[in-house]
Amino acid sequence: MNSLCSLFNIRFPVIQAGMVWCSGWKLAAAVSNAGGLGLIGSGSMHPGTLREHIRKCKAATVHPFGVNVPLLYPQIEELMAVILEEGVKIVFTSAGNPATWTSKLKEAGIKVVHVVSNTKFAKKAEVSGVDAVVAEGFEAGGHNGREETTTLCLVPMVADAVSIPVIAAGGIGSGRAMLAAFALGAEGVQIGSAFAVAAESSAHPNFKRAVLNAGEGDTKLSMKSLVPIRLLKNEFYEQVEQAERMGASKEELAKLLGKGRAKKGMYEGDLVEGELEIGQVAATLQEIKPAAEILKTIWDDFVATKAKLEKLKL
Ligand SMILES: Cc1cc2nc3c(=O)[nH]c(=O)nc-3n(C[C@H](O)[C@H](O)[C@H](O)COP(=O)(O)O)c2cc1C
Repeated sequence: MNSLCSLFNIRFPVIQAGMVWCSGWKLAAAVSNAGGLGLIGSGSMHPGTLREHIRKCKAATVHPFGVNVPLLYPQIEELMAVILEEGVKIVFTSAGNPATWTSKLKEAGIKVVHVVSNTKFAKKAEVSGVDAVVAEGFEAGGHNGREETTTLCLVPMVADAVSIPVIAAGGIGSGRAMLAAFALGAEGVQIGSAFAVAAESSAHPNFKRAVLNAGEGDTKLSMKSLVPIRLLKNEFYEQVEQAERMGASKEELAKLLGKGRAKKGMYEGDLVEGELEIGQVAATLQEIKPAAEILKTIWDDFVATKAKLEKLKL
């Protein structure tokens, strides 16, 4: 059996990424019910909101689901307390030091996975005791590494550097891409952007439409001097670009970003002033579909492409 399917007790080695303002209980439960692993994205939730989402997710699925926690979250102690009290079984951590929380979570019997964008942090995560790592490449939506290492380069390097299972992320929206990730040494995939536009995603319809209309070159890794993040090009993105061209300091960029930009863009649908996080794979997304259909299409394509390659005459 695939190592990640047995680690998480799921049918398909496909993880729906934790995503601020997109992945609440509805999306997570839909993916888990379809045989993947759904993750609630706690990065945009108050601790009380997270508790509500966990409870609703438990009521909506009998299958395993998890919570994604960006470790730089200001009220991290409170979030983790909710996770422990509610008996969450799987936690994906990101954006921070895995050494701080992994052993506490593991002591509570929780499976822990950490997201990395380079081999140094993959090794560090393994030493801290995580069960698997997500190797997230440059193509990915949301926060990203400064090194700009693409999924194609990152996954084999991480797979060679650690002995725990590797989950590939960044640019995966089809079974073909998933199979490529397996060829590179991954044993599962984490998919964000393609699920951000699912029917069950809590993102605003304006944001979903903008993502579906995006073409090649319409996203860019931005704000590298502050927190590198891949954004859909819009008015706010242009303001950031201009500020960076003029040599804006970290403080000036932080001021321009201000508070609540991501909520404004992705949850409230302000396509002008909001921050719109999405990956390069947006250029391939065509329509809003239920999460179960997205997962099935990817899996069927994975199986068909694998069979095609097995027949390849060399
Ligand atoms: C809208 C959006 C929000 C995201 N929010 C988070 C987050 O809260 N925590 C996190 O670890 N990663 C976040 N990410 C990154 C995803 O977890 C995932 O690793 C990435 O989307 C994979 O690449 P893909 O977008 O090409 O599928 C976000 C990505 C998107 C598109």
